Amino acid sequence: MYQVTEKRDVPPNIKMFKVRAPAVSRKAAPGQFVIVRTDERGERIPITIAGAEPEEDTVTVYFAEVGASTRDLGRLGEGDGILNFSGPLGNAIPVKGYGEVLCVAGGVFQGVNLYLAKALRGEGNRVTCVQVAKGMDHLFLVDEAREACDESYAVVDDDEGGGLKGLVARLLDEKKMSRVFTFGPVPMQRAVAELASARGVPSSVNLYPVMVDGTGMCGACRVTVGGATRFACIDGPEFDGASVDFDELTSRLRYYTPQEKIAMVLNERGVI
Ligand SMILES: Cc1cc2nc3c(=O)[nH]c(=O)nc-3n(C[C@H](O)[C@H](O)[C@H](O)COP(=O)(O)OP(=O)(O)OC[C@H]3O[C@@H](n4cnc5c(N)ncnc54)[C@H](O)[C@@H]3O)c2cc1C
Ligand code: FES
Repeated sequence: MYQVTEKRDVPPNIKMFKVRAPAVSRKAAPGQFVIVRTDERGERIPITIAGAEPEEDTVTVYFAEVGASTRDLGRLGEGDGILNFSGPLGNAIPVKGYGEVLCVAGGVFQGVNLYLAKALRGEGNRVTCVQVAKGMDHLFLVDEAREACDESYAVVDDDEGGGLKGLVARLLDEKKMSRVFTFGPVPMQRAVAELASARGVPSSVNLYPVMVDGTGMCGACRVTVGGATRFACIDGPEFDGASVDFDELTSRLRYYTPQEKIAMVLNERGVI
């Protein structure tokens, strides 16, 4: 079992866990993920690694309680054990000297954004971070972003993405960015990638399609990038933002919505 050594509630429905997983903590790098199974009845949940503390043998993750499996995981407390915690999976984001970089994260993905920002600064890059949230009460890790980045901004995004688009466009126009990295909901990452492409700046997006095995065997995480079929679990999750077929990704993410709604109701009634 993998012990939860620290648990924190992050508004509105996000949990931070530090999990004792010595082997994962020694090898993890920004961009990689773990696949977690709470217990023998649990589904496999991919979660991005938001920090590794090899001196404590722990790995940090943030997850939103959006459905039955993430709710079950969120019910664990400090000292409880997780049945499976496999990783690190996927490719690490190449951390090297790019120059001036922009790191934009939405929702639950603030932790990994700062994990990457710190690594990029360690390589001598100048890092500007943008945190995107649905409301002021959805923002977290704001002080930590100020410390981790050379410049940091927090923006509340409206449904049209206006707040985010205006800020990112201004930063891209004012600074000579060499590269943009982004994590978060598909529409947000797509908007950031399009703004970067329009200015000739390469962008790196991180894709979270439905995954099953996480090892390239099942094909569930198929995405189209540059006209070719790729598997996000072994070829990604990071891809070139200008080449991703976002329409296909969006429609594939909605594929299991009816079943997910049923699972949520059954979970609430204690049936599963
Ligand atoms: C590589 C990877 C890394 C991820 N990292 C994180 C992370 O760090 N933190 C985090 O909170 N979540 C992360 N996710 C998403 C997370 O795995 C799903 O939210 C989770 O599996 C949902 O399980 P569930 O049974 O609780 O909800 P479900 O019943 O499966 O789904 C509930 C709702 O969540 C949506 N959903 C389900 N899967 C995804 C997905 N892959 N992407 C976007 N929406 C989804 C559904 O459309 C539905 O609306 C990641 C996914 C992948 C593939
Ligand atoms: S999750 Fe099965 S191939 Fe990627």
